[in-house]
Amino acid sequence: EPPITVRTLSEAIGHPSKDIMRILWNEGNMVTINDGLSEEAALEISLELGVELEIKRQETAKDRLTLSVESDEDPANLEHRPPIVTILGHVDHGKTSLLDKIRSANVTSGEAGGITQHIASYQVDHNGQKVTFVDTPGHAAFGEMRARGANITDIIVLVVAADDGVMPQTKECISHAKSSGAPIIVAMNKCDLPDADEQKVLQDLAANEILPAEWGGEIEVIRTSATTGEGIENLLETILVTAELHEYKADPKRDAVGVCLEAFLDEGRGVMSWLIVQRGTMRVGDVILCGETYGRVRAMYNDRNEEIQEAPPSTPIKVAGLEEVPSAGEFFFVMPEIEEARQIANDRRHADRAEVLSSRRKSLSLDDLLSA
Ligand code: GTP
Ligand code: MG
Repeated sequence: EPPITVRTLSEAIGHPSKDIMRILWNEGNMVTINDGLSEEAALEISLELGVELEIKRQETAKDRLTLSVESDEDPANLEHRPPIVTILGHVDHGKTSLLDKIRSANVTSGEAGGITQHIASYQVDHNGQKVTFVDTPGHAAFGEMRARGANITDIIVLVVAADDGVMPQTKECISHAKSSGAPIIVAMNKCDLPDADEQKVLQDLAANEILPAEWGGEIEVIRTSATTGEGIENLLETILVTAELHEYKADPKRDAVGVCLEAFLDEGRGVMSWLIVQRGTMRVGDVILCGETYGRVRAMYNDRNEEIQEAPPSTPIKVAGLEEVPSAGEFFFVMPEIEEARQIANDRRHADRAEVLSSRRKSLSLDDLLSA
């Protein structure tokens, strides 16, 4: 039986148990206060509530591992960090084009033309203020992260093409955005097109509970064109104003924690993982546990593919050194000992395999029954 329950977690992190249960209920997991939580679930729920959790392993008399839970969040160490902005919207409405435009207008000189490689996340510096963007070209990470209840997003930019209006996927994005609770900014894109219909887009939005500020609502609708660059400056300003209102903070001194956006196997360099650091500072040489895999950070690169030695909160990084390819949406944690990271990764792999095996066995016996 897992030794962490809703109640013990609530006591450890100083959040009401109903907040913890609400997160689980939203995932369809109808727990009660005395129900057990997996170690991973406890860590993820805590992260979502903005608390770091340290799980300590102790050998008990019965020679069984038990876990005690401790929060190590120190408000005195919190510092401002760049907002993490996720771009959502219907296919082809211009998410990637907008980001390319933002980036080419805001990366340091000399580098603007040289963007060859498409990546999921990058950071721009706008008038001395950093913003971290996450593109969602239909890649699995966003859905995965939602499924895990992990939300890295501070601000959502909803892209709606002015010639197309609110489409089915836009509606899906609106419901994701609403349930995440993050502030929403609409980029009404492709405003350069002759068949752009601003009034229709505003109506569509209002009909879907996104009431534009110009109609007395709370959502800023910024007219943009990724082709001409119109509105890009305004969009960035609106993002920065929103970020200022919310004062996003993190402790840069602690061990790094964050999320894997995507990962792949590189012929020459082994497993390469795109991560976003949420809290703490990641350093070359750190040991990381990421889902069912682990490793030591051998090399680290920023979004311009430059080698870096350390990465503070909200930084997107590419990391070499994990043993296997982690899944998108998986949390990572820096750990003190590689042996412990290896152990937990192995335990998780085996737990998963046991689950798969038992579900297979179930379906087999069902088949047996049916064919009998
Ligand atoms: P997915 O990642 O496939 O969901 O699409 P996306 O939302 O990233 O759209 P993408 O940026 O790939 O743009 C789709 C098409 O629209 C491309 O052909 C772009 O050149 C075009 N496009 C994007 N923004 C604009 C714009 O502001 N004006 C015009 N005229 N075309 C645009
Ligand atoms: Mg795209």
